Amino acid sequence: MTHTIMPVVIVTGASRGLGAAVARWLAKARAAVTLISRSENRLKDVAMEIRSLGGKPLVFTADVSNPDACRNAVEVTLDRFGRIDALVNNAGIIQPISSIARADPDNWRYNIEVNLLGPFYMIQAAISSLRSQNGRIVNVSSGAANRVLENVSAYCAAKAALNHFTRVLAEEEPELTAVTVRPGVVDTDMQATIRNEGLNAMPDQQLAYYRQLKALGELEPAEIPGRSIAWLALHAPTEFSGQFFDYDDPRIAKPALKAFGKKLVTLRIVE
Ligand SMILES: NC(=O)c1ccc[n+]([C@@H]2O[C@H](COP(=O)([O-])OP(=O)(O)OC[C@H]3O[C@@H](n4cnc5c(N)ncnc54)[C@H](OP(=O)(O)O)[C@@H]3O)[C@@H](O)[C@H]2O)c1
Repeated sequence: MTHTIMPVVIVTGASRGLGAAVARWLAKARAAVTLISRSENRLKDVAMEIRSLGGKPLVFTADVSNPDACRNAVEVTLDRFGRIDALVNNAGIIQPISSIARADPDNWRYNIEVNLLGPFYMIQAAISSLRSQNGRIVNVSSGAANRVLENVSAYCAAKAALNHFTRVLAEEEPELTAVTVRPGVVDTDMQATIRNEGLNAMPDQQLAYYRQLKALGELEPAEIPGRSIAWLALHAPTEFSGQFFDYDDPRIAKPALKAFGKKLVTLRIVE
């Protein structure tokens, strides 16, 4: 009889949206998943789903802008599961939605702390464990890394920096496979925040674009980019290291569909 080893993956921002979708696909692949976010109750709901899908969840409530909390999350994962095969840095915030001239400096700084320093803290804490597994790091980026989007300057700057940081990481750590991925425009709370908070901060045309995507049903469901990200965490080949991928790049989307299947049946979470 052969025993397959359960892969161990840390997913930040796993309480909802894209991160929860990534965790569900990983559970379908029978992974052990450490679920991190600031909302304990929501994480517990996702953990129930992970269990029912065949995964092993570990809930860790933390703000990724806190380096001590990131170190603790890694320690607790190692205590519980013994190793770390992959890290998905998905936790992110869009705010402040404001022009550079008017943005609140504290909010601007917190955006960078969550979107850029969070991944740095998590990677630094997990790097020696990841090295010993020839592990993978998936940093969830955005089209905003390359595109000029007005009124979300901190977000654009953080994601652009995350892409370049990942290129440097890939050079420094040849034992690891580190990539960034753009998940498309996804139907999550982040998009709801843009539609709601953009009202007083964005030009009409910009806001109308995001509202229309929702109204026309053209936002991507989180499960689709989530499947690509879960596949990258478990299977990204070493030659991908340092690169920035679109979630629907056929080199990822095709094998992800083959490996995980089309449907992800989940329990309904009562909000
Ligand atoms: N939605 C899109 O269209 C889109 C497009 C491009 C890129 N992305 C990227 O995709 C990723 C996931 O976003 P989403 O769309 O799923 O947004 P979301 O629904 O708002 O989810 C964000 C997740 O990050 C967590 N989070 C936020 N701040 C955190 C912090 N300081 N510490 C720990 N966890 C934190 C949230 O949980 P708590 O609030 O419980 O902490 C939540 O689980 C982000 O990196 C985002 O930039 C999204």
